Amino acid sequence: MRDIQNIVILTGAGISAESGIATFRGPGGLWEGHRVEDVCTPQALAHDPALVHRFYDLRRAALDTVIPNAAHDALARLDREWPGELLIVTQNVDDLHERAGATRMLHMHGELNSALCADCGVQAEWRGSLPPGSVCAACGATTLRPDIVFFGEMPYRMDAIERALSRADLFVSIGTSGAVYPAAGFVQTARYHGAQTLELNLEPSAGSVYFHEARMGAAGVLVPEWVGEVLSA
Ligand code: APR
Repeated sequence: MRDIQNIVILTGAGISAESGIATFRGPGGLWEGHRVEDVCTPQALAHDPALVHRFYDLRRAALDTVIPNAAHDALARLDREWPGELLIVTQNVDDLHERAGATRMLHMHGELNSALCADCGVQAEWRGSLPPGSVCAACGATTLRPDIVFFGEMPYRMDAIERALSRADLFVSIGTSGAVYPAAGFVQTARYHGAQTLELNLEPSAGSVYFHEARMGAAGVLVPEWVGEVLSA
């Protein structure tokens, strides 16, 4: 096993579950009560903008009621102390990684605290409700939308992600079901480039077979343990 210099970490809804943010596909999941197609597609936004904007307004408002958990804190510690390259790629749209102090990170599926202008493409930090028809400060159009990557849209920063995966010595997947591509394929890309791969999850994900090692349990327990190991190795 080559020594570890460069680490890529993929996180999903499971890392925020212990903070009280519902996952998507578990019991009581976020999609229950809503069909994904009804709220997370460009067609849904065009067909019923008020429903889609309200769905994300509620999730944005809920951020004020949750705080980072031990898993977010442990990754922020790794970010501060890891001397090699590190990239945290989150599928989550919450701001818990940032609030824990992570900096070497990116949101591949967008962010609740951001608005996207459908006209000029500018992203702007956004707090509070974002009603349909809100005005873009950059171009004046009234086409601001939640800055969420919908199904069928291209995730953000794929170039940076592919580059990091090609250089990774270790790829760690935390709290994701492996149900949605391209994120679900990152483990195979990392392995192709010779990385060791580790899955930390409550239960085996759809891609568990692709990982060299898989540890099952709560992120709040597994992630601090793993960070302690990798920093003392
Ligand atoms: N600790 C670790 N893992 C957990 C925990 C926990 N406390 N609680 C749940 N999990 C695991 C579940 O077992 C599941 O495998 O987290 C995973 C959550 O899976 P999903 O709900 O499918 O969420 P995610 O994988 O992030 O979804 C990917 O799909 O809906 C789209 O764009 C959305 O980014 C999202 C993407």
